[in-house]
Amino acid sequence: MFDWLLDRSIVFSFDRTGFRRHSRSFADEPERDLHGKDVLITGGTTGIGFSLAQTLAQKGARCMLWARRQEAGEKAAAAVNGEFTSVDLGDLAAVGQAARSYAPEALAAVVLNAGAMPLDRRLTPQDHELIWASQVLGHLLILRILRQRGLLDVQTRVIWVSSGGMYTQRLDLSDLRCDRSYQRHTVYANAKRAQVVLASHLATEWSDVPMSSMHPGWVQTDAVKHSMPLFHAVTRPILRTPEEGADTLVWLTSREQTPSTGCFWLDRAAQPEHLRDKTRATSQTRDALIDLVMDQTQPFLEAP
Ligand SMILES: NC(=O)c1ccc[n+]([C@@H]2O[C@H](COP(=O)([O-])OP(=O)(O)OC[C@H]3O[C@@H](n4cnc5c(N)ncnc54)[C@H](OP(=O)(O)O)[C@@H]3O)[C@@H](O)[C@H]2O)c1
Repeated sequence: MFDWLLDRSIVFSFDRTGFRRHSRSFADEPERDLHGKDVLITGGTTGIGFSLAQTLAQKGARCMLWARRQEAGEKAAAAVNGEFTSVDLGDLAAVGQAARSYAPEALAAVVLNAGAMPLDRRLTPQDHELIWASQVLGHLLILRILRQRGLLDVQTRVIWVSSGGMYTQRLDLSDLRCDRSYQRHTVYANAKRAQVVLASHLATEWSDVPMSSMHPGWVQTDAVKHSMPLFHAVTRPILRTPEEGADTLVWLTSREQTPSTGCFWLDRAAQPEHLRDKTRATSQTRDALIDLVMDQTQPFLEAP
């Protein structure tokens, strides 16, 4: 009962005390062999994604890091004996090219982790708002191309890195280009909510591909420091380390037992997708999301 109350408090679940309390029930589990296998990690060059890459590299995986900044990316890839690809996930033409050129021998997992919350509204080359384009469309396009190329199957675990911030948001498709206003926390939460809806849809649609979404809790990273300075200043003493934020990703990627598909995870435990009824979208809105994102990514599926 006390644990339930702490979890409902949010703060004492998403913070480092939450991780440490939850981790008391973590079990030692057999792990699959990742030697010689690729793990593709978008945004694997810093923060949570880089911590994941460090741990998976120690387990023998070849980590493929996709992000924008060349110098930071090459440095990160060198540190994990992996490879770096420079790509802006908001640019769907560039994402299409990267996903078509990628040729893994064996792909153990795809971790859709890249994410940012720019201070100002930015439009992408395809005229989408950047948060939406990079976190929802770019990630979906990677999956669709890998799937089309026969690279996603039961061996390939797909994990969407969402955010606990999505608990505040009902899926809203009314102003995705942010023409009316750019409230970046809301835009971010809406994209993170869309990721979870999409993961759940794909889990049904591609039932042979183990599909998960998760949130890492509140983690001490550059993203939090630069995009949410006030939140960072107040919560700094209680933020999780990047290793703690990446723990569930490591677990989902490397445990021998295939994770149940379609779940939303925090700290190795399946979580509800809603904490309040008012964030539940209608089935029509969910269907409209799927139709929309499939349409928006469709032109980039075939090589030009
Ligand atoms: N930290 C938290 O408390 C927290 C909480 C909830 C959810 N999350 C989620 O966890 C994920 C990782 O965040 P983090 O805190 O580890 O942040 P971070 O340290 O800033 O890492 C973000 C990564 O994403 C890459 N990236 C950002 N925008 C990109 C784009 N348009 N195209 C390609 N790569 C891009 C960045 O590299 P470049 O800048 O070089 O592209 C970097 O590698 C994000 O999805 C975030 O929303 C974090």
